[in-house]
Amino acid sequence: MEKMTDLFSKFDPLIQQREDLLATGVTDPFSLVMEKVISPTVAICNGRETILLGTYNYMGMTFDDDVIAAGKEALDRFGSGTTGSRVLNGTYQGHRECEDALKEFYAMDHAMVFSTGYQANLGIISTIAGKGDYVILDIDSHASIYDGCAMGNAEIVAFRHNDVEALEKRLKRLPPEAGKLVVLEGVYSMLGDIAPLKEMIRVSKENGAMVLVDEAHSMGFIGEHGRGVAEAQGVIDDVDFIIGTFSKSVGTVGGFCVSNHPKFEILRLVCRPYVFTASLPPSVVATAATSIRKLMHGSNKRAHLWENSKTLHKGLRDLGFTLGTEEPQSAIIAVIMPDLERGAMMWEALLEEGLYVNLARPPATPAGMTLLRCSLCAEHSSEQVTEILARFERAGKRARIIG
Ligand SMILES: Cc1ncc(COP(=O)(O)O)c(C=O)c1O
Repeated sequence: MEKMTDLFSKFDPLIQQREDLLATGVTDPFSLVMEKVISPTVAICNGRETILLGTYNYMGMTFDDDVIAAGKEALDRFGSGTTGSRVLNGTYQGHRECEDALKEFYAMDHAMVFSTGYQANLGIISTIAGKGDYVILDIDSHASIYDGCAMGNAEIVAFRHNDVEALEKRLKRLPPEAGKLVVLEGVYSMLGDIAPLKEMIRVSKENGAMVLVDEAHSMGFIGEHGRGVAEAQGVIDDVDFIIGTFSKSVGTVGGFCVSNHPKFEILRLVCRPYVFTASLPPSVVATAATSIRKLMHGSNKRAHLWENSKTLHKGLRDLGFTLGTEEPQSAIIAVIMPDLERGAMMWEALLEEGLYVNLARPPATPAGMTLLRCSLCAEHSSEQVTEILARFERAGKRARIIG
């Protein structure tokens, strides 16, 4: 018998890195269990009451009374799941209502709900950009965008993060008659920086490209109606496709694409990650639709979230931490750590202080950085933000990140 090649041997370097990290005595930062969730901003972790600062629950909708009531009612009326694809037995009244809420929210003609945002990117990118077409994307794009490219047959061209000139240069090199899709994000979730969409969309259009913007991290609070960075920069009418998720501001799970393209509906028949998977449970679409409708009137909460973001950014900077952006640009504030080991130590020190943030490391992060990513919530009180800063100071001194 031939000797079997262990298919897992490719993971050896990662296994070793993980073992080395755990050998330092640090708690595994990637296996935390939330034992009880009390509110959008507080949970019990390791038996300790912990402020949540790493949930992307920007608008705090997970415990909204109307959202919860809608979910319970749908569970009672429609059961626990659809057990089917959207194109067979998996489209219920609630899926349609959810799509109607999205069309109204974005003031667009079409909306398609997917089971996750990941699948929305996977499906839309791989389906609309085919053989002979080009996808031009920011090098710091989310994994779901890269995976959408990998699943499709288009040529992939990456350009330097947020660099308008680099985008223009790449576009000009492509055959003028070829189909082109420029893929951008409103907010880049690793550093919390926003894209210069106005200029990028201008050069895309000048060079005959369609534009897709992933607004996963801006929905609900950036832009006058919470439609995202494209709205805030006055260019939403020039965007061909907006991708979004229900797993952040909407407070549940699911993904979507909205568009004014007149032929958009055909995607329901040809988009494999839409067709070949089960649809979202009725309770989920009911909570999503209710949440989206409430987000249309969320301007007070938006203002408070911006306040929180500004206070935390300034406070962390004053304490001596190195941050991912000069100014707060979104509800994400990234604290740059010297390396993975010190980052994990700081993460653990924060957890011991009763503060949860996300530890992010390469390859998910740009430029090999280790980051402590903080995402603020409109439900964080001003007192909680003050307390968060105090915990950062104590943990930062203990982990020797600040002096
Ligand atoms: C930019 C971006 N797009 C898409 C997704 C995927 O969203 P979902 O959690 O709904 O799969 C994420 C989630 O992390 C994201 O950050």
